[in-house]
Amino acid sequence: MRFIDLVRSRSSCRSFSERKVSRSALSAVMDAGRLAPSANNAQPWRFLAVDADPYLSGVIESTHVMGMNRFTDTVPSFIVLCEHKPRLAPTVASHLHRRDYVSYDLGIAADHMMLCARTLNLDTCLIGWFSEKKVKQTLHLPPSVIPRLLLAIGYADGSEPARSKKRMSLQEVSRFYPED
Ligand SMILES: Cc1cc2nc3c(=O)[nH]c(=O)nc-3n(C[C@H](O)[C@H](O)[C@H](O)COP(=O)(O)O)c2cc1C
Repeated sequence: MRFIDLVRSRSSCRSFSERKVSRSALSAVMDAGRLAPSANNAQPWRFLAVDADPYLSGVIESTHVMGMNRFTDTVPSFIVLCEHKPRLAPTVASHLHRRDYVSYDLGIAADHMMLCARTLNLDTCLIGWFSEKKVKQTLHLPPSVIPRLLLAIGYADGSEPARSKKRMSLQEVSRFYPED
C-alpha cells in the first residue's frame, strides 16, 4: 500500500465491536511507538496496554468525563501513552526553548501507533479528553508516570458510514518560498 493510502485509511473509530485484539498485535503497535523519534532521543514515554477488567472498565470510565466519549463502552483495549519524566538534558532544552517537546514526542508516537494499527486492520481513536487521575488510580501509576493520551484500539463494528476527511486544503495550510 502506498503511504498516502495508509494515511487516508485511518480515521477515528467511534463504534467498536467487542472483538478482542491479540496481545501480539498490541505489542506490535507499541513497538511502532517505541521506534518513533523524540527530542534528544529522550524517549519520554511508557506505553501501557489495557485489555481486561478491572483495568479496562477503569480506563473506559476515565473517558466519560462530563458525559464525553460514550462510544468507549465497547472498546476492547487501550494503549495508555504516558509521559515518563525524561532525563535532565531534554527537560532543560524544553525549558530553554519554551517548547513542550514531550507533547510533540507523544503525538508522534501516537501517530506511529495508529498507522501501524491500520496495517493490522485495526481501528483506533486517540482520546485526549479523559480523567488523568482516574487512569492513575486504576493502573496504580507512580508519580513519575503521567497518562497523557489514550489510544482506543480494536475492530470497527461496521456501523459507522465511511467519512471523507474534513480538512483545510493544501493551499490553505502550506506555501512555498519563494512562491511560484
Ligand atoms: C490529541 C488528540 C485528542 C483527541 N481527543 C479525542 C477525544 O477525547 N474524543 C474523541 O472522540 N476524539 C478525539 N480525538 C480525535 C479527533 O477528534 C479526530 O482526530 C479529528 O476529528 C479528525 O478526524 P479523523 O481522526 O477521523 O481523521 C483526538 C485527536 C487528537 C489528535
